[in-house]
Amino acid sequence: MPTALVAGATRGIGRGFVEALLQRDWSVYASYRHAGSAQALDELSRRHPGQLRQVPLDLTDEDSIRATVAQIESELLEPLELGLCCAGLLHEGDQRPEKSLAKLSPDWFQRSMAVNGLGPLLLLKHLHPLLVHHTSSQYAVISARVGSITENQLGGWYSYRASKAALNMLMKTAAIEMGRRFPHLQLLCLHPGTTDTELSEPFSARVPREKLFSVECTVHQLLQVLEDNRGGESGRFLSWDGSELPW
Ligand SMILES: NC(=O)c1ccc[n+]([C@@H]2O[C@H](COP(=O)([O-])OP(=O)(O)OC[C@H]3O[C@@H](n4cnc5c(N)ncnc54)[C@H](OP(=O)(O)O)[C@@H]3O)[C@@H](O)[C@H]2O)c1
Repeated sequence: MPTALVAGATRGIGRGFVEALLQRDWSVYASYRHAGSAQALDELSRRHPGQLRQVPLDLTDEDSIRATVAQIESELLEPLELGLCCAGLLHEGDQRPEKSLAKLSPDWFQRSMAVNGLGPLLLLKHLHPLLVHHTSSQYAVISARVGSITENQLGGWYSYRASKAALNMLMKTAAIEMGRRFPHLQLLCLHPGTTDTELSEPFSARVPREKLFSVECTVHQLLQVLEDNRGGESGRFLSWDGSELPW
């Protein structure tokens, strides 16, 4: 049975990936940040007994990443085939993405960088030894088109844009290093398209209905992108329809 780790699995796109992978008969490690939010995965555990394991993981806490990866390593029966980092932050509490420079807050900038930029790379740092034993493994992060410097026409959203641009650079850099040492491991940055989740909810009213994807639709598209690109070039930034995005 192929095995995946989905980080940020309690809600939105991450939970959608867990559900789709279970339906496709994968064995899945699904991470939660707080015991409270883990309940969101309990129903999936009941529906797929023995196929889903819930593990604690906070991307801003390297010890938590290290401990969870060690737990997975001790349990794995086959090499890990897929690592998916779906965790991310656009708003939290009263904090909204900045419309202007006047709203820039160093604390929020650093929190965005920690969760969206550094966290997925720290996960790769600890997880890649489990992925490199597979003959064709993938580590994909959910980035965002607004992290593209070339495509930035609207401005605003300083912290989120910068954290996703940083994520892209970190993944590209890791892809070069990993490509030399572990050519069977492919790294990808994926843009999901605007997807109907709690993250997009405050902004989705302005999105035309046909451009607001359901989680199921996004996950279906992104699994197809992963499948179509398996074994191909590493260090790419791909959209939900498989097209290449400019950095
Ligand atoms: N939705 C969109 O339109 C859209 C568009 C472009 C890109 N994206 C990207 O897609 C990814 C998924 O977004 P989404 O819409 O599914 O968001 P979401 O519904 O808000 O879910 C975010 C997930 O990230 C987890 N998370 C947050 N901080 C974490 C941390 N420090 N450590 C571990 N997990 C953490 C959350 O866990 P808790 O339940 O514990 O909070 C939750 O499971 C994000 O990276 C987002 O930037 C989304």
